[in-house]
This record gives sequence, structure tokens and C-alpha cells, in this order.
Amino acid sequence: MNIALISNESYLEYYAKPVLKWAGGKGMLLPQITKHLPTKLKFGAIKRYIEPFVGGGAVFFELANNYNFEDAYLFDINPELVILYNVIKNNVEDLIAELSVLQQSYIIAQDKNVFYYALRDEYNQFDKNVDANKYTTDFIRRAALTVCLNRTCFNGLFRVNSKGLFNVPVGKYKNPRILDENNLREVSKALQCATILQTDFASALDYVNSDTFIYYDPPYRPINASSFNSYAVSEFNDDEQKRLKNIFAKADKLGALQMLSNSDPTNSNPKDMFFDGLYRDYKIHRIWAKRMINADPNGRDGVRELLITNY
Ligand SMILES: C[S@@+](CC[C@H](N)C(=O)[O-])C[C@H]1O[C@@H](n2cnc3c(N)ncnc32)[C@H](O)[C@@H]1O
Repeated sequence: MNIALISNESYLEYYAKPVLKWAGGKGMLLPQITKHLPTKLKFGAIKRYIEPFVGGGAVFFELANNYNFEDAYLFDINPELVILYNVIKNNVEDLIAELSVLQQSYIIAQDKNVFYYALRDEYNQFDKNVDANKYTTDFIRRAALTVCLNRTCFNGLFRVNSKGLFNVPVGKYKNPRILDENNLREVSKALQCATILQTDFASALDYVNSDTFIYYDPPYRPINASSFNSYAVSEFNDDEQKRLKNIFAKADKLGALQMLSNSDPTNSNPKDMFFDGLYRDYKIHRIWAKRMINADPNGRDGVRELLITNY
């Protein structure tokens, strides 16, 4: 566990926290998620952590700050996240050096838009079919651009077109923090116990044992048709939600303790009991959330969300 330092910068400087802004990031919900964690985890009897939709990693970093896992398995279908986390794990000082140059170049750039679009073009030259699980130090520059673009693009969105090209326009920031070296080092420490893979969530079953806690945060089922839930080229439709429930049920039989987040369809249609039906054999908690990243400006208002547990 890291030592808290009381200073003007706040003790949080010395805890790992997400490196990226990420749609659906769970930072704001951590107090409620923490409240519903299994007692076995709080007593230190959970040795293995699996997060099959890791995204920005808010929940993993929070737990890594507070509990000592022997191992963690972090998955995402998005290759850029996997590349970034493996670079932070293996070559954090090289990444810091790259980001330091990018931060300085941004400050002195006369035209921030030209700077941004040049980096975006460079980013889109990288091989979109790369095997993100085959680590190489060539990934360091790619990971640096993921961070830099995330810090300077519109709303911190990650969006790609059908060819896999990153197409988010420039954002408006006076002084974006491209490099946060203390945090990168803390994140690197937190990731030392982690295996980070680009893979489908179903791979979680390969790693489950009876000392495992799994937290699932899939792309949310849209609460209305225009809601944003496209993180990569593929869509996460109701068949995917059902496939996920089957994985949840199998991991339950294998003895894992599990928590799953999703949207609550009863926000817009009180009769829509999709998740209540799907997860009827488990516990369904309704919590209150504010949405920060959403293509629909109305989506910034508070909504009920679901936390489903098997304990
Ligand atoms: C709601 S986000 C997770 C947010 C994360 N909890 C956070 O705090 O930032 C969902 C993630 O699932 C990933 N994803 C989508 N389909 C997937 C699949 N079939 N298997 C694994 N990951 C998937 C997306 O790339 C995205 O990063």
C-alpha cells in the first residue's frame, strides 16, 4: 500500500489513478462500488483480481491502492489500452521521457490545432491490426500519443471510424496536463502484478479460481437509442449482454465473487426489466450516478445504474 502524503497537492498524488479520461470511467462511482465490495476482499482473503473490461482502470487502481493482490488480469478489446498499460508496466521511464517532450512541444506550439492534427495523423499511421499482446518497445511512442491525444482531444473521447482510424477532433484546453509523472510511476507499480491482454471478456473464465474477485464494467446498454457506447469498431448489443451473463454464471459456479455494472433501463422505461430478468438469480443494487462523458448533452444529468453481485 502506498503512503499518503499530506500536502497542498493532496495525498492523491501518491495513489495510482487513471491515466486516461475514458467513457464510462468509474471514478465518480468509487464510493458506491467500494461500499458493495465483498467482505472477503476487505479481509485480504482475495488473492486474484480480474477486470475483463478494464477501460480507464478506475476500479483496478482504487483496489490496487488498498489491497495486495498476488495477481491481476486486466482485459480490454481495445488494443491501444493494452499497449499503453503494458508500456507503463514495462517502460515507464521511457514513456515519461516521450511525454515530457510532447508536453514541452505543446507549450511552445504556436497553433495548438496544427500540433494536435499532426499527432493524430502520426497516430493513424500505426498498424491497426497489430498484435497488442506481443510486446515491443516500438509501442512506447504509440502509448505516448494515446495519452497526449486523450489529454488534448475533444472531451477525452476515444472514437475510431470503421477503418479503425482515430477521428476525435481537437479539444479546447488552456493548459492540458499531458505528463503526470508521479501518477505514471504509481500506475506502473500497481501494474506489476497484472497480466494485461487484448482479448474478449470470455477469457476471464481461463483465470478464475475460488480466491478471485471479478469486476465487470461492460459498455452500457443504451438507455435511449442515441446514447454513446461505441469504444471500438464493434457494438455491444443485447446478445452480447446475454453472452456476458453466461460468463457471469459460469464464473459463479467456479467460485468467483463478482460485481457487474450496467445502466438501468428503468430510467427511461419503467417496464424494461431486461437486467432484472437476466440477473434474477443474483443481487441487484440500484445506485445513483452522474454521467460525465456522453454524446447526448442531456445525458449529463443523474441516472440510476445497476450494481449486480453474486454475494
Ligand atoms: C465502460 S468501459 C469500462 C470503463 C472502466 N471501468 C473505467 O473506469 O474506465 C467498457 C470497456 O469495455 C471494452 N470492451 C468492449 N467490448 C469488449 C469485449 N467484448 N471484451 C472486452 N472488452 C470489451 C471497451 O473497449 C471499453 O474500454
